Amino acid sequence: MAIRNVLVTGGAGYIGSHLVDALVTRGYVVTVLDNLEPQVHRSGTWPTYANPKVRYVRGDVRDRSVFEPLVLEAEAVVHFGAAVSVGQSMYQVDRYVDVNTRGTALLLDILVNTTHKVEKVIVASSIGVYGEGAYLCTACGPVAPTIRTEAQLAARDWEQHCPSCGAHVFSIPTPEDKALYRDNIYSMTKYHQEEMVLLIGKTYSIPAVAPRFFNVYGPRQSLSNPYAGVAAIWLSRLMNGKPPVVFEDGGQLRDFVSIHDVVDCLTLMLETSGADYLPVNVGSGETVTILEIAQLLKRLLGSDVEPEVTNAGRKFDIRHNTADITVAREKLGYAPKVTLEAGFTELIEWAKTTPDVAVDFFDKAYGELKAKGLLVG
Ligand SMILES: NC(=O)c1ccc[n+]([C@@H]2O[C@H](COP(=O)([O-])OP(=O)(O)OC[C@H]3O[C@@H](n4cnc5c(N)ncnc54)[C@H](O)[C@@H]3O)[C@@H](O)[C@H]2O)c1
Ligand SMILES: [Zn+2]
Repeated sequence: MAIRNVLVTGGAGYIGSHLVDALVTRGYVVTVLDNLEPQVHRSGTWPTYANPKVRYVRGDVRDRSVFEPLVLEAEAVVHFGAAVSVGQSMYQVDRYVDVNTRGTALLLDILVNTTHKVEKVIVASSIGVYGEGAYLCTACGPVAPTIRTEAQLAARDWEQHCPSCGAHVFSIPTPEDKALYRDNIYSMTKYHQEEMVLLIGKTYSIPAVAPRFFNVYGPRQSLSNPYAGVAAIWLSRLMNGKPPVVFEDGGQLRDFVSIHDVVDCLTLMLETSGADYLPVNVGSGETVTILEIAQLLKRLLGSDVEPEVTNAGRKFDIRHNTADITVAREKLGYAPKVTLEAGFTELIEWAKTTPDVAVDFFDKAYGELKAKGLLVG
């Protein structure tokens, strides 16, 4: 039977809402389950971009009485409802594990113990499951160093060393089969989610896919949530006349992918079987340093405020991680289209129209990191 009814948890959020719009355009009947988490939805109401053709149900993914009837109506479940911040997860351990891990466990418990008609489950995983990205040592070949020690950060020796010979190593795009390890609670929960969904999917023949999102950017990204993505945080700062705060020396390599490419990739995951039962990197395939992103934002905004490079590290941060998107290209036919220049221009044009940008809570989050002793250097 073809998929028609799609349940999107967290569908009032940033990535989910864009997917919801695309699904409506493609003729799906969409239901959203979202608890309007106050840190994300400060108004406490459905966002202004809520799609009039979608049924919105306010409820928690940990509440079986709401979740189960919605799962039973669906032919596909896209599970995005989650607590989303690396730094905050290191001091709200119980909340992160409860929402992310237990919420997903409940979804699976429903699928295993009911007569349902779900033919596809997509669960949001993350770049975080890798810990550090993949590296190459000139002497030893491909290596997988783990997180840098506090002593290394304190010495401001930012680059990774080879675990075998100790030489500095070079970042290379990370394939899905790189050895995984987690260095923060949020990433552990993302890994639990991914591993549990893929396991139950395989065991009960429910096709499941775990997109590992890299740095997703675009309109509707929360600009007032100081725990959200770095591009949004910096944009808010710049638009408030304050410098973007860049940790370490700004040379960290990342993959920034436009929300539109992400939605294309998710649609392919839903509508084709090429990536069933797999974790899949979702990135742009382009590599950029975070200082370059700060400077790009400054230039596109016409701001004269220079980024503030702190030369301090955060205990849970990785040095480099960029996406090898071969699996998405080959198994799904994914072909990212949006350039950084075009994508960030769109983000800025949208930011100018949202009142959220007037608010900058970064100092509060920064103060919390300091108070918890998570900054080094
Ligand atoms: N944005 C990124 O770059 C990125 C990167 C990696 C992974 N992800 C993952 O993608 C998914 C979507 O992320 P996003 O950036 O759209 O985040 P978001 O915070 O904008 O959206 C998450 C949505 O989930 C809802 N939610 C939170 N707790 C809930 C609960 N207990 N019950 C029901 N709903 C709840 C929130 O109200 C929000 O609308 C998340 O699972 C996140 O972990 C995002
Ligand atoms: Zn070596």
